[in-house]
Amino acid sequence: MDEAIRVEDSGAVRTITLNRPAKKNAITLAMYTALNAALAEAATDDRTSVVLLGAVGDAFSAGNDIGDFLRASTGGLAESSSARSSGTFLQTIASFPKPMVAAVNGLAIGIGATMLLHCDLVIASSAATFQFPFTSLALVPEAGSSVLLAARVGLQRATEWLLLGERIDAETALHAGFVNAVVPPEALASAAATRVQALTRLPLGALRETKRLIREPLRAAVADAMARELQAFASRLTSPEAAAAFSGFLARGK
Ligand code: COA
Repeated sequence: MDEAIRVEDSGAVRTITLNRPAKKNAITLAMYTALNAALAEAATDDRTSVVLLGAVGDAFSAGNDIGDFLRASTGGLAESSSARSSGTFLQTIASFPKPMVAAVNGLAIGIGATMLLHCDLVIASSAATFQFPFTSLALVPEAGSSVLLAARVGLQRATEWLLLGERIDAETALHAGFVNAVVPPEALASAAATRVQALTRLPLGALRETKRLIREPLRAAVADAMARELQAFASRLTSPEAAAAFSGFLARGK
């Protein structure tokens, strides 16, 4: 199977895998739609109690497909299917009611990093790096990260990560509290599976309630942040600065 999003069910675990390794798992419109469907189904299907999110290849995800960004930039975000697809996926992951574990094998950029803020446990390979390069693309943060990142790593660090957009290595991410554990690349799958299996042995009702209690204090703040971010993102996306940044990326090396 060569779908760009792979979905596998094994017992109570649904594994969702980004599978576009030749493009560093950059996420296209079709991939957002598939991710959203896989998560929405897992949210309501009683057979699923835990979701494991992972990726094929040497990258976790290079973020939103920049070709799609460029098309949205020239077509206008408000009406674009780009905004609808990623927005729907983000709403679904932000409100996902069951435990979700991420196994981060390599670089996690843009939405590849911000989606991790909605995962309950994040296990990273020592080869993983994280980056929020929104300003260099003339964009602003998304996925509620303007609020959630500070909640996870502290306001000062979040400000630095979001303004400068520099690459963060796995150890720094661990010490900042952005990820739960860093393991050698060859141990990533088993380290994630151990956590997933431990979760499947616990009462799902208690897990759901615990997750709800942890997320509830920030729920409204995150929803407000996502609405503000979407508005700012839409106007940045159609700016000449952003069009130049996207074209520059796509034309590099040519
Ligand atoms: N959107 C679309 N295509 C992307 C992509 C993205 N976000 N990230 C990588 N790709 C593509 C490249 O264009 C390249 O395609 P090609 O082989 O057809 O030329 C392929 O994936 C491999 O990427 P490449 O840049 O050759 O690999 P690298 O190891 O030198 O660099 C990255 C990897 C991820 C550091 C680099 O591709 C990059 O900076 N990507 C953009 C990340 C980004 O800014 N994302 C948006 C965040 S909001």
